[in-house]
Order: sequence, then C-alpha cells, then structure tokens
Amino acid sequence: MSARPPAAPARNLTDVPTIPVGSPLLLLGRGSDPATERGVLCPGDLPAPDDPNLRDRARAARAALGDEVMVLGHHYQRDQVIDFADARGDSFELSRQAAAAQAPFIVFCGVHFMAESASILGREDQRVILPDLAAGCSMADMAEAHQVVDAWARLERAGVSDATVPLTYMNSTAGIKAFCGEHGGAICTSSNAPRAMQWAFDQVDASDPTLPAKVLFLPDQHLGRNTAVLSLGLDLADCVVYDPWRADGGLTDDQLRAARVILWKGHCSVHARFQPAMVAKVRDELPGVQVLVHPECRHEVVLEADRVGSTGQIIRWVEDAPAGSTLAIATELNLVKRLGEQHPDKHVVFLDETVCFCATMNRIDLPHLVWVLESLVDGQVVNEIRVAPEVRRNALLALERMLSLPGTGQSLAAVAGAAAAVA
Ligand code: 13P
Ligand code: SF4
Repeated sequence: MSARPPAAPARNLTDVPTIPVGSPLLLLGRGSDPATERGVLCPGDLPAPDDPNLRDRARAARAALGDEVMVLGHHYQRDQVIDFADARGDSFELSRQAAAAQAPFIVFCGVHFMAESASILGREDQRVILPDLAAGCSMADMAEAHQVVDAWARLERAGVSDATVPLTYMNSTAGIKAFCGEHGGAICTSSNAPRAMQWAFDQVDASDPTLPAKVLFLPDQHLGRNTAVLSLGLDLADCVVYDPWRADGGLTDDQLRAARVILWKGHCSVHARFQPAMVAKVRDELPGVQVLVHPECRHEVVLEADRVGSTGQIIRWVEDAPAGSTLAIATELNLVKRLGEQHPDKHVVFLDETVCFCATMNRIDLPHLVWVLESLVDGQVVNEIRVAPEVRRNALLALERMLSLPGTGQSLAAVAGAAAAVA
C-alpha cells in the first residue's frame, strides 16, 4: 500500500475569496425567491413520509374536493404522485389541459415553470397550487429575465435584433415568456419545437440579403440545436452559442450577423448526462435494441439514436413497439421505470447506468400532495403560484401563439428530415 501523502498546509477559510455569482443557488427548501425557479420553504405541517395512511388520506381529500380541483401530473412524477393525477401528460399536453380546465383549483404536480404556465393559461379566477415550492428547474434557472434583456441589447448593438425572433422553450420563467411575447416571439415545447422554430423564421422580414433571419432560442441549447439541424435542415455552423456569463455573450458582431440560430447556453441537468458512449455500449450489450432519446439530449447522442422525440412521443413509441422489442430510453428515470412496468412483454432499459431522477420533479411527493389537498378541504390555499398581471399578459401572448401553431404537437422525428438524419 502506498504511504498517505503529507497533509496540505492548513488554510484559513476566512481568507478564501467568495466567488461572486449572479444567481446563487438556494438550498432546496430554504430561503425565498419566488420571482425565480429557486425553491422556497413550505410553510405548513407536512404529514410524516412514513404515515401508513397517506394514500387513504390523499384519496379521501381528493374525493371530498370533487370537481373543485383538477390534479395535473407530468410524466416525470413519482408513481406515488402520478397515481392521483386526473390528467397526466408532457409539458405541451398539460398546458392544453390547464387551458381547458374548469375546476377552480389546479394542483400541478410538476415543476414551477409548468405551474406558472398553467396559471397564465387558466382563467383569472382559477388558482394554481404547486405542492412543493422547491420544485424548480435547473434549466429554467440558467436564463434570468435581466440576462435576456441584456442579450437583446447585445443583438441591437450588433444590428441584428430586427432580423431576430425570440423563441423560448416552455422550461423558462414567466418573465422570459413575457419577453418573447413582447418582442414578437413565442414559446415551444419539445413536441412542437420544429413548427415553432419555422414559425419564428417566417416572422422575419428577410428583405436584407446580407442579414439572414435569426431565432434567439432560450434556454436549452440542445433542443434548439437538434431542432435547427435535424428538423429544419440547417448546418451546425449556422448555430452559435450565446453565453450570458461572458462579455458580449462571447460572440463577435460578425458571428451574430452570420448566425441563423443563436442558442442560449443552457441545458437540462438530467438529459445532458447521456453520452454517445452509452449508446455504443447498449448496442453492444443488447443486439437489436432501439434507442429512443429526448431532444434535450446532446446533439452527439441524438445522432447515435434511432429516434428522437418528446416525452409523449417516446411513450407512444414504447406502446406501439411489438412485444419482444428491446428499447433503451434516454429521458427521466421515473417515466422509464414506469414504462418498463407497464410493458412487461417488452424489454425497456434506461440508457444511463447510474440512477438519475430529476431531483426537482421528485420534490413533489405524497406528503406534499396530501398537505395541499387537505389544506384545500380545510378551506386554505397553500403554495399558490401567481404571475404579475403585466408579465401574465405578455406571456399569454407568447403561449397563445404556440397553441395556435398549425399542426402543433407534432414530434421532432415526424418532421421531414429528422427521422432520416437520426436513423
Ligand atoms: P416535455 O414534457 O416537453 O417532454 O419536456 C421534458 C422536460 O424536461 C420537462 O421538464
Ligand atoms: Fe428541468 Fe430537466 Fe428536470 Fe425537466 S427534467 S424539470 S428540464 S431539470
């Protein structure tokens, strides 16, 4: 055994400089910053997680509330929670459900930006509840509204803002959605990104042949790149990455002028974990495997996959696969595990070897759900998500543009070019 190296000289921790960051992460569930996706403390008395009556309590509270409440659940939620959803779906489907909901209370089992969108799309008298306010989204936190305002000023300085339409992924704060609404842009989800990006290009008056039309795509660089290249047939070289932490976004005026898609430097901490080597390994180990990936995955991973599609599309592919199929899936683990259990005649595996749930989706658990439902039974609205009227108005504009896109809901792979490109 080698000898232990001599201990490093002790450092006085008070001398260690603090690194200034614009968006210091709050410990989950501590502190308060309701204007962003960062978590805030739940004020109530939560039932104990080991209470054996939790399911009965949830059922009883749900029954007592009847039509007064609609429980929406994203596909990435835990089994213990999704079991109580009146409607489950991906971000797009849930935004449609929220827009159509009649119930005065919507309990949103998902993450903060989804509850915000439900609040924007719902009636003004409807009240939206997020069972745990610490259920944020790390990707949404990668773009703050003031940074986007700075980025737009950068595009103005480079003389390209008139040729640019901002398009934000649903996974962003209401402030950014409002920015897009106010600047002639829209919102997309993973199930309609190609339509929305094409729509955005179509909005630009391309009368200056020296200045190509552009889309500023926020905040997921991977979805933006995969959509631009695989669905719209652009080159990788047409895409540049704007880094909000670098001077001028890290881009020259010439780069901005030449670009077709300006990608924000953001990513999903769950989907960006998947690597091309994982695809190679699963193909080695499971001959005949079909690899299905979400478009939030890195471009290099998507290129190695058999199919790329939104959460809803992946579910349909698994349902439609013949018995005996082997499927390796790159998306959130709660969903992949559930798909395996629901389809025992198919071999469904998770593409990554290590366990990777979305930590913030997992914040919503049965104790929090019971707490918000029982509070409602007692006439108390807890953890309500509200959006300021000015922000709501502009964000609604952008959301409505998305919902009225022709043929929206179409998958990335269903649009000409993508399936061939990844086959
Ligand atoms: P979709 O629901 O649009 O597939 O998005 C996935 C996701 O990461 C949600 O947070
Ligand atoms: Fe955000 Fe990714 Fe979790 Fe979705 S899966 S909520 S994008 S961190």
